[in-house]
Amino acid sequence: MLIPLCTYFLWLSTSDLWTVQAKDPHTDVSTRSPHRDLAPNNVDFAFTLYRHLVASAPGKNVFISPVSISMALAMLSLGARGLTRVQLLQGLGFNLTKTSEAEIHQGFQRLRRLHGQSDTTLEMALGNALFLDRSLELLDSFSADTKHYYELEVLATDFEDWAGASRQINEYIKNKTHGKIVNLFSELNSSATLILVNYIFFKGTWAHPFDPENTREENFYVNESAVVKVPMMSQSSAIKYLKDRALPCQLVQLDYAGNGTVFFILPDEGKMDTVIAALSRDTIQRWSESLTISHVDLHIPKVSISGAYDLKAILGDMGITDLVSNGADFSGITQEARLKVSKVVHKAVLQLDEKGLKAAVPSRVTFKVASEPLAVHFNRPFVVMIFNHFTWNSLFLGRVMNPT
Ligand SMILES: *[C@@H]1O[C@H](CO)[C@@H](O)[C@H](O)[C@H]1NC(C)=O
Ligand SMILES: *[C@@H]1O[C@H](CO)[C@@H](O)[C@H](O)[C@H]1NC(C)=O
Ligand SMILES: *[C@@H]1O[C@H](CO)[C@@H](O)[C@H](O)[C@H]1NC(C)=O
Ligand SMILES: *[C@@H]1O[C@H](CO)[C@@H](O)[C@H](O)[C@H]1NC(C)=O
Ligand SMILES: *[C@@H]1O[C@H](CO)[C@@H](O)[C@H](O)[C@H]1NC(C)=O
Repeated sequence: MLIPLCTYFLWLSTSDLWTVQAKDPHTDVSTRSPHRDLAPNNVDFAFTLYRHLVASAPGKNVFISPVSISMALAMLSLGARGLTRVQLLQGLGFNLTKTSEAEIHQGFQRLRRLHGQSDTTLEMALGNALFLDRSLELLDSFSADTKHYYELEVLATDFEDWAGASRQINEYIKNKTHGKIVNLFSELNSSATLILVNYIFFKGTWAHPFDPENTREENFYVNESAVVKVPMMSQSSAIKYLKDRALPCQLVQLDYAGNGTVFFILPDEGKMDTVIAALSRDTIQRWSESLTISHVDLHIPKVSISGAYDLKAILGDMGITDLVSNGADFSGITQEARLKVSKVVHKAVLQLDEKGLKAAVPSRVTFKVASEPLAVHFNRPFVVMIFNHFTWNSLFLGRVMNPT
């Protein structure tokens, strides 16, 4: 029997940024506190996974939600036994000598709660669902643990009627993602009897919107030979900026209303690989400390990027080989059947646009500075990273090669 394990993520960002926080007490990535317990492991896992994906997709856009993937796999580990269980948790970057399984799941429980709390400005939903064929019954321990730590919602599904089952799942995901992810399962006509879904919906709202009237069509230089036209949003304001001296790139950090923060990283021409190779917790930490408020004339494409992946092979390359092998032991989920993971589907969508808080008026911060603003045009391949700066977890990681 097959378990397609699906993590779906949707990220929807409206608008512009600019919360100029002079001194953000939350930027210390390495500070240990209960709400940041899992951050070091999750961020390391995020970058490792990202590098594997980037390497497997030369020249292509890449977009994932690492925290969603970590959470789904940790939840799956509750149904795994023996080596499979150890391998899953170690593959996620946990040292089981240092961190007990209970601590790991408690950490994800806190994360789910913190990320699930929506305030008035940041819309975010993060949750887990399991679609289970009527012929199967979950083991009590799996039901109890997944409910306790992950608030897993279990829905009975008739997988004999695949059309009906996919309709049910699609409807559910559509509801949970506020209509942003539709028809996730259109092409998944497999012999599944159990589907595990983790979804994230995040609607980031720029504290200060971009003015749509400033959005113009501009060139985006995909590579030496290809140029495409993209709508480019722009704004001139005071934001966190850095021309890195250690790595060949410049970056800006824009905050969303609430806890979301975005790094847009613009590698020098041809230096994308160098910059991606250097992404790490230390690099983020260094950048957070070095960014300074500058008067920047910022141009960022108004784009929608999505990524859909079957992560099975890549997770196998990263050491979670039981996901791909027949020896996997998922006997902790049900008694009836020998389960096998057939798919680890992940989908993430990013929309970048001008909109800000409904109530917010585009603020025209005029800057009294002697110098001209620094022009920063994201008109060639760039990296985008979205963090929750309260938990320092990586909500999204992307590489934009061609926005069209
Ligand atoms: C796990 O942690 C223990 C105790 O801190 C340490 O001795 C061991 O080397 C670590 N294992 C790995 C693989 O890092
Ligand atoms: C989705 O939401 C609508 C309206 O809120 C509701 O009628 C419908 O039953 C929901 N569907 C699912 C699958 O939850
Ligand atoms: C779906 O069904 C078609 C036709 O039966 C088959 O060719 C295709 O491989 C199936 N796709 C999946 C994902 O199982
Ligand atoms: C440049 O990008 C275009 C469009 O994506 C692609 O077709 C072409 O192969 C690329 N050329 C090089 C040299 O990478
Ligand atoms: C950040 O998240 C924490 C935990 O959910 C919340 O208490 C706090 O109000 C959030 N901060 C902002 C600025 O929304």
